[in-house]
Parts: sequence; C-alpha cells; structure tokens
Amino acid sequence: MPTNRWLQEARKDHYRRRAREEGYRSRAAYKFLEAQRKYRLVKRGDIIVDLGAWPGGISQALARIVGSEGLVIAVDRRKFKKFDERNIITLQLDILEDDVVSEIKKILDGKLADFLVSDASPSFSGIRDVDVLRQIELTERSHEIAKELVKRGGSVMLKALECGELRELERELKREFKIVKRFIPKATRKSSSELYLIGIGKLV
Ligand SMILES: C[S@@+](CC[C@H](N)C(=O)[O-])C[C@H]1O[C@@H](n2cnc3c(N)ncnc32)[C@H](O)[C@@H]1O
Repeated sequence: MPTNRWLQEARKDHYRRRAREEGYRSRAAYKFLEAQRKYRLVKRGDIIVDLGAWPGGISQALARIVGSEGLVIAVDRRKFKKFDERNIITLQLDILEDDVVSEIKKILDGKLADFLVSDASPSFSGIRDVDVLRQIELTERSHEIAKELVKRGGSVMLKALECGELRELERELKREFKIVKRFIPKATRKSSSELYLIGIGKLV
C-alpha cells in the first residue's frame, strides 16, 4: 500500500517530468494553467505582472497565452536565466524592499496590467508560525502592488497559506473584485496548506 509521502513524491515527479517534456522551467506552470482553464484569467494580448516568478514556469505559460501582442513582466529577487520567449521582460527586485511599483510602471509606460499573479513564497524554515508570517507578508505586499498596477476589470491570483490573517485579506479582496475564489491546484501537495486567492473583475 503506497504511503501518503510516496504518493506526494510520485505526483511531484509526474509534474516535473511533464514540465521538462513541455519546455517549462518549473511545475508551477501547471498550477496557473489549471486556474486558467477554470477561470479564464488571461487572454491574447494581455499585459501581465508575475511576482515571485523565478525560475519562470508560470511566466512561460503566460507568455504562450498572451502571444507576441502581449507582455509578461517577471519579477523575482533571484537572477533569471535568459528566456527565449521575447515577450517576457525580467526584473531582479525584492518585492518587500525595492520600489517595485515604480520600476514596473517604467515598463508599462502609462498602461496598467490586465492580470497580476504572485507565486512569491519564502524559504520555509519548517516552523509553521514563522513560515505563515513570512508568507502573509509576501501575499499582502503582492496585494498592495496589485492595487496600484492592475486596471479596472483586471484580475489577480495571489499565493497564500491557510491562516487566520487570510480572512481579512479575503474580505478586502471581496470589496475590490466582483468575484473572489480560493483555489487549490492539483499540483499542490495534499499535505500543504498552500492556496491561491483569485480576484476577478477589479471594481475600481
Ligand atoms: C515557488 S517559487 C516561484 C516559482 C515560479 N513562480 C515559477 O513559475 O517557476 C517562489 C519564488 O518567490 C521568490 N521570492 C520570495 N521572496 C521574494 C521577495 N521578497 N521578492 C521577490 N521574490 C521573492 C523566490 O525567490 C522564489 O523564486
């Protein structure tokens, strides 16, 4: 009888292998693609901000959808390996420290983004309270950045961990977006409390 851990590893291996075969840098691409199938978040020609984007699986999946008329601005504190996709621009920035909004605005050149995804997550310490605090800080910061950069009618997808503070963030999102959903992708480990908050149709 396979153990839970064995099943988790097998699932991870499956997505890793698939990512290699389909030319994605990480299995994270499948988390976004599943959300895309379910909620139709992004379309051809869209302008996207991708926070916590390294190594770049989600950016690549986005780049394929938005096509040559669209743009993906991939942000991470880690240095990206050069992308072959010509519609991905990278910024090496720390979203907690740097003035990410003004750096991205320089690229947007007066426009706003159609969609912001944040997959930013800390290096986990294994101490649950510490990890939850670090994650919520990144999630809240991503939300602040989205408030400034996403256009009316646009959408967001923010990585989070299940915790008490999330309720307040969810309430805020419900005031700002027409539809708010909690989304747990299949590629997420069963034992993990990782989820994404999705806001569709920014109201202002
Ligand atoms: C799960 S990985 C992202 C995977 C990526 N979205 C993909 O599609 O391949 C989480 C990322 O968050 C980034 N990160 C964590 N804290 C950050 C911060 N303060 N500023 C920018 N990036 C951060 C990490 O460097 C890491 O690359």
